[in-house]
Amino acid sequence: MNDLAGKHIILGLTGGIACYKAAELCRAFIKEGATVQVVMTAAAEQFITPVTMQALSGRTVYDSQWDARESNNMPHINLSREADAIVLAPCSADFMAKLLHGRADDLLSLMCLARPIDRVPLLIAPAMNREMWAHPATQRNLRQLDADGAVILGVGSGFQACGETGDGRMLEPPQLLEDIIAFFQPKPMRGQHVLVTAGPTFEAIDPIRGVTNHSSGKMGFAVARAAREAGADVTLIAGPVAVPTPRGVTRIDVQSARDMLDASLRFASQATVFIATAAVADWRPASPSEQKIKKDGSGQAPVVAFTENPDILHTLAQSERAQKGDLYCVGFAAESHDLLVNAQAKRARKGIPLLVGNIGPAAFGQDDNQLLLVDAQGVREVPRASKLVLARQLISEIAGRMAQARREHA
Ligand code: C5P
Repeated sequence: MNDLAGKHIILGLTGGIACYKAAELCRAFIKEGATVQVVMTAAAEQFITPVTMQALSGRTVYDSQWDARESNNMPHINLSREADAIVLAPCSADFMAKLLHGRADDLLSLMCLARPIDRVPLLIAPAMNREMWAHPATQRNLRQLDADGAVILGVGSGFQACGETGDGRMLEPPQLLEDIIAFFQPKPMRGQHVLVTAGPTFEAIDPIRGVTNHSSGKMGFAVARAAREAGADVTLIAGPVAVPTPRGVTRIDVQSARDMLDASLRFASQATVFIATAAVADWRPASPSEQKIKKDGSGQAPVVAFTENPDILHTLAQSERAQKGDLYCVGFAAESHDLLVNAQAKRARKGIPLLVGNIGPAAFGQDDNQLLLVDAQGVREVPRASKLVLARQLISEIAGRMAQARREHA
């Protein structure tokens, strides 16, 4: 993927053991298409060498405000004017205190102060011991930095280099990368609450066995991530899948269609958008056995009778909120043939404004997909791309349609 293509990032390192993670973060930025200029404080150089960071970024590291390489001798001005963002990872407690006071006695703090504040965002990934993190001074400084317009990326929790366990670790490079990619995405869903169902359901036959399908959950998880990137609060109701939860998304795990319906109804009262990507089982065993069904030696297979599951999407689309226009419902259709005809019929049957069609066997478990958006106006094809790219396009289409509906209503 090239989610940071065209972005120029200043990666600032301050003194902390988490500097070793900055090497991987630098690499991850470059893999996503960014160019990276590393700037280090003297304390950071105690933890990792500029040689390592130069090799990974492909640029010589800056570490002094007196650097004579710049003809005007103003690296703090020149470097910060070229940047799309300054990312401080790791940012020490001491460096936060410095930023807060607008102190500028080394190149990195000088550059943070000198950056054009409206154009060059400052993103901070704090890293420190748990007591330092919990200290009222640190928490006060964080609030003030936030008020001054910095973006605080949060911290992780767990085992710390000092041997203690708690909050204050720097987030892992893949987490920081996901947050920074999200930061650069447009925010047309700000203020919305998006509810997404994803993955298959599992319908028990007995305590050991059940009926399920090949849905991997990847498309639904990508939709949840894209909605979050677009600024929404996101609740993701997931059947049994092995996909990591997108950053900042609230995930509720369920098994059966009825569990999924219960969870969907519970969260639908706060939601403004419902996107049903789950491959819900149409039928479930009518009376699952409480004990494992054993072979009885007769050679006779057990007969399992099925009963129909509730249709979650249809139920929510018929709810009062959806009917009043307060819950925008979107469905997915995985078809094996006649996609367009089936998708149009399904949109009408479900009573929803937008249905997204895809060819089931070509989508299940794959990293990429192609979509057909079917609404009252007609059909639009979204060409084959990664599920995340498609999900971003879908979210932007939904935001556009909701804005249009609001304009027509006003
Ligand atoms: O009717 P069909 O299963 O093809 O419809 C697919 C769409 O309806 C998907 O959006 C799916 O998540 C949703 N659905 C549902 N509950 C069901 C069956 C399907 O929400 N029981």
